[in-house]
Amino acid sequence: MIVDIKAKILENRFISGKTWLMRLEAPGIAKYSKPAQFIMVKPTTEESFDPLLRRAFAIADVVGDEVVLYYDIHGRGTKVLSERKSGEYIDVLGPLGKQLFPEDYNSYILVGGGIGFAGLSFLMKYLREKGKKFVSLYGARTKEDLSMIEWIKENGFDVIYYTDDGSFGRKGLITQDLESIIEENPGSALAVCGPTPMMKAVAKIAKQKNVPCYLSLETKMACGIGICIGCVVKDIQSDNYVRVCYEGPVFEASEIEF
Ligand SMILES: Cc1cc2nc3c(=O)[nH]c(=O)nc-3n(C[C@H](O)[C@H](O)[C@H](O)COP(=O)(O)OP(=O)(O)OC[C@H]3O[C@@H](n4cnc5c(N)ncnc54)[C@H](O)[C@@H]3O)c2cc1C
Ligand code: FES
Repeated sequence: MIVDIKAKILENRFISGKTWLMRLEAPGIAKYSKPAQFIMVKPTTEESFDPLLRRAFAIADVVGDEVVLYYDIHGRGTKVLSERKSGEYIDVLGPLGKQLFPEDYNSYILVGGGIGFAGLSFLMKYLREKGKKFVSLYGARTKEDLSMIEWIKENGFDVIYYTDDGSFGRKGLITQDLESIIEENPGSALAVCGPTPMMKAVAKIAKQKNVPCYLSLETKMACGIGICIGCVVKDIQSDNYVRVCYEGPVFEASEIEF
């Protein structure tokens, strides 16, 4: 069920790099949220319409009645969002997204790049609850950009980290060991979220190794509910366009052009 609510901001604090954490009291959303779903958040207060449009954020975690977001400051919307204070109320629409990660695999390899890891963290909790096997990879430019380390430790997960500069975990790209990790985990499906070049690289390896690869796409969105047609990608089979917000956000990599 999708609700359009004013959620109370419980916490909004800087984490590291350019990432902030926001905790929202949103029982109506928390209750129905599933991994890979997202919410559309109006960054401004009631009185202001600059910027006008809501911004999309992955549901990084759900704790009781709370919805947790991790967001990077990119432009005006996320800057304004970072200025919102605990105790204020904020317009939120969600949970959104229909096509999610398939549940019929016994084993998964999660690949999250940068803030894209926030699109997989809730899935980790879900898979653990379901007793499924999974390996998680988390890569970023530097340690500062691995902003969910604290969350990962608090929740007791084992993750293989990569940084471009070697400041934390293995030095190099998140894709560097992927072929061998796929071989070590036969029958696994890949669940991926991150920057487009990383997702393309992962999809290429998945194709070579002939393993299913599910991408949680984060194309730019204006409405988030299927109306504006601003978020489309091409569906290869039908040669038609599909809306990431409505038909997605998760697609099998071989089925779309992105
Ligand atoms: C389904 C979905 C889930 C998302 N989840 C998260 C999340 O959990 N955490 C997070 O930090 N961000 C997430 N994003 C991206 C987030 O929506 C954008 O970063 C945000 O809208 C930027 O708003 P802005 O006003 O700050 O930037 P704008 O002023 O709108 O743009 C500033 C810069 O950010 C870039 N940008 C805008 N939208 C996106 C986008 N969708 N993807 C990548 N770059 C973008 C622009 O190209 C521009 O360079 C998600 C996007 C989608 C569609
Ligand atoms: S964001 Fe408007 S149709 Fe997807």
